[in-house]
Amino acid sequence: MKYVLITGGSSGIGLELAKIFAAEGFGILLAASDEKKLLTAKCSIEKAYQVPVTTYSFDLAKQGEAKKLYEAVKTDKIVVDVLINNAGIGTIGATEQIPLDKDEALMVLNMITPVVLTKLFLKDMYERKDGKILNVCSTGAYQPGPYTSTYYASKSFLLSYTKAVRQEAKQHHVSVCALCPGTTDTGFFERADSKTPKGAMSAKRVAAYAYRRLMQNKTESIPGLKFRIMKLCPEKIKTMVIAMVKKP
Ligand SMILES: NC(=O)c1ccc[n+]([C@@H]2O[C@H](COP(=O)([O-])OP(=O)(O)OC[C@H]3O[C@@H](n4cnc5c(N)ncnc54)[C@H](OP(=O)(O)O)[C@@H]3O)[C@@H](O)[C@H]2O)c1
Repeated sequence: MKYVLITGGSSGIGLELAKIFAAEGFGILLAASDEKKLLTAKCSIEKAYQVPVTTYSFDLAKQGEAKKLYEAVKTDKIVVDVLINNAGIGTIGATEQIPLDKDEALMVLNMITPVVLTKLFLKDMYERKDGKILNVCSTGAYQPGPYTSTYYASKSFLLSYTKAVRQEAKQHHVSVCALCPGTTDTGFFERADSKTPKGAMSAKRVAAYAYRRLMQNKTESIPGLKFRIMKLCPEKIKTMVIAMVKKP
């Protein structure tokens, strides 16, 4: 049986991706911090798709936890065929007002954790000359984000990192891809003490598009025509619009 490991697989885009992989017959490994939510997700997937679901509860916004997650999967002797670095959080507000500890947690979860997991699982994938990694970035990766500065910068970092590693991984027959969703209707905005903007896509639609594009080994994928068109706008205009929309 093939296995997919999805960080942040207990809700939103990660959970919808887990359902698609389960429908395709993959064994599912879900990592997130809240054990109760993980258990709920495990039960619903196992009931609907009759595939094994293993859960890993780690606070991936803390340094060192990503390595522990890797070691836990190795201890369980499970070979990860697909790694999806999906767990992520946002902070919204004036840069000097956002508590430093929140931004630090964001930077660990959105940048350090995917780097650690990519590096560790990549080695195993190179040895097998097989494997796929999907890093969940954002359309925010394509521009600076006033009043959400750390979040947009973290996604720019992850997109750049993904594209660089992708180039290296080609010769080892491992695909490394980026998913760059626009606003999606999940718990993401509530977690950042904000509201989901109107016109957000469903997580189900985002996941379906992401799965198709990952299987086609596309470098980067932006679900939704509207968001693909928005990417083409000049950076100066996009930055001004974000400043107007996000200004507290
Ligand atoms: N929603 C959007 O508009 C949007 C747009 C572009 C990109 N994205 C990206 O999409 C990804 C998924 O977000 P989502 O929209 O699906 O949000 P979500 O519904 O809030 O899901 C976030 C997932 O990450 C996990 N997570 C959060 N903090 C964690 C921590 N400290 N340690 C381990 N797991 C943690 C959550 O589980 P626990 O609560 O159990 O920790 C949950 O499973 C993120 O990387 C986000 O940046 C979202």
